[in-house]
Amino acid sequence: MAQCVPILVFVVAFLRFMADAAVVEHTFRVGNLTVRRLCENRVITAVNGRLPGPTIEVHEGDTLVVHLINDSPYNLTIHWHGIFQLLSGWADGPSMITQCPIQPRNCYAYRFNITGQEGTLWWHAHSSVLRATVYGALIIRPRNGTEAFPFSKPDKEVPILLGEWWNDDIVDMDSQAFLTGGAPGDSDAYTINGKPGDLYRCSSNQMYKLEVEQGKSYLLRIINAALSKELFFKVAGHSFTVVAVDASYTKPYETDVVVIAPGQTADALMVADAPPAASYYMAALPYISTAPSPPPRPSFDNTTTRGIVRYEPAMPSAASSRPVMPAMPSFFDNDVAHRFFTSLTGLLRPGDPTVPLHVDEHMVVTFGLGVAACEASQLLCNRSRGATAASMNNVSFQFPTKKSLLEAHFRGEKGIYTSDFPDTPPVFFDFTNPAVNVNPALQSLWFTTKGTKVKKVKYNAAVEMVLQNTAILGIENHPLHLHGFNFFVLAQGFGNYNATSAVKSYNLADPPARNTIAVPTGGWAVIRFTANNPGVWIMHCHLDAHLSSGLAMAFEVENGSTPETTLPPPPPDYPRC
Ligand code: C2O
Repeated sequence: MAQCVPILVFVVAFLRFMADAAVVEHTFRVGNLTVRRLCENRVITAVNGRLPGPTIEVHEGDTLVVHLINDSPYNLTIHWHGIFQLLSGWADGPSMITQCPIQPRNCYAYRFNITGQEGTLWWHAHSSVLRATVYGALIIRPRNGTEAFPFSKPDKEVPILLGEWWNDDIVDMDSQAFLTGGAPGDSDAYTINGKPGDLYRCSSNQMYKLEVEQGKSYLLRIINAALSKELFFKVAGHSFTVVAVDASYTKPYETDVVVIAPGQTADALMVADAPPAASYYMAALPYISTAPSPPPRPSFDNTTTRGIVRYEPAMPSAASSRPVMPAMPSFFDNDVAHRFFTSLTGLLRPGDPTVPLHVDEHMVVTFGLGVAACEASQLLCNRSRGATAASMNNVSFQFPTKKSLLEAHFRGEKGIYTSDFPDTPPVFFDFTNPAVNVNPALQSLWFTTKGTKVKKVKYNAAVEMVLQNTAILGIENHPLHLHGFNFFVLAQGFGNYNATSAVKSYNLADPPARNTIAVPTGGWAVIRFTANNPGVWIMHCHLDAHLSSGLAMAFEVENGSTPETTLPPPPPDYPRC
């Protein structure tokens, strides 16, 4: 702990060491915080006593150092979601993938450069379910402080963090789910910047407010930090121009609704051009992509969070009239979701990386839910039915317990993982046909086995993944997130991937680049990326319960042939298990 102690207060130090790059330093003290929501007091885990946690602002080219002090009772790590972590995988954060967790009363300094990316990202806990309350925005502005956005400079930038709230202790809830081998309970509220808004009990004074001025433009930096729900977001009386997703610029896309899956971000310009005689609600509610049957659609939190957009100076009539509510899509509107996701195209600026046209590693990866034998420690698990286990290519990812994958990789230590993650699923069947849930002859397809398998690739290999959802235990739109890289989204569709027809639809000209792809429910997507970052990088579903139940795999990217393409050793304060 000694090396963290001197920094006791929340410090942002800008130490100029070059004309255009700075070292930005923060101290994150993680501990208990009592907050009152939905008429109840609750003790949560939070950073620096705030929910959401502090916003980090950097410029491209800066070095970010975050001194994490763990005053919470839990093992903890923080992940910098979407940051490339070029040669700094030790700071990526996923527990047992790139580090052992930071134990209570211990600390670790996350140190990394922000290179070749700008826009809206975020940070969150990456151990247990702590990210429900341990999260915040990470904003990367263009280098030099020139604010050289590839769109007209907004008058104001506004982080909008969408979250999910439980009237329970989420850590208890999660352990209960593990014991039974089932899923954790539904949330009680959604939140905007930590606040549920006036549709919930005792919450009318816990509503996010945005003051705007007539004619000014606002860059909404929208982040879905919810544990498990994709969301529709709208502002009454206003429309958006989406200019970036996942900190990758897009060609401007006009829409009145933003669809955003856990892990994703969207930068949306909004001009305050509505009549100032009224005020306007902003609102978010879940997008539920599961089919009604079979199996029956699981229950879900069907509430709506809202905040308010108020014009300042206000017309007297605005105070007396009720704010205008946007017409929201239905929970089940696959069309709205699909239109939003497939309308995005990438904005290529000179020098930006381009989609690989030649592929070295072709992978077809099925993913979805399944069933595995109960573990001995799952005391309340129904042994004859088994536990819910999610998988990729029918391997249900098992986290190592003794050493992180990255450390085992770096030290060449055997016995922690195997490098045999398969390039194709073990059986090709009618993946998206719901008959798999009712036809007893197909029931063997439900069963999955646990393993810690990685896919090993050469430095700079071009990787293509066909990501195919299965209907086992229900189709669903799963947000698949890759650490360490952005990938290009070439195509997506419903049903089973068919190479002959799909290839014709590949967008090789201006595909959007993302770090999290919401693969269409009962459908597929094709992504490509260049493995130009040595280390071990997890890819997983960003619906939290799916990660813990095994919907994950990892890439092991070998070093290149030069010192500049070789992963350096771990830092001296690297946590031990
Ligand atoms: Cu935002 Cu591995 O996660």
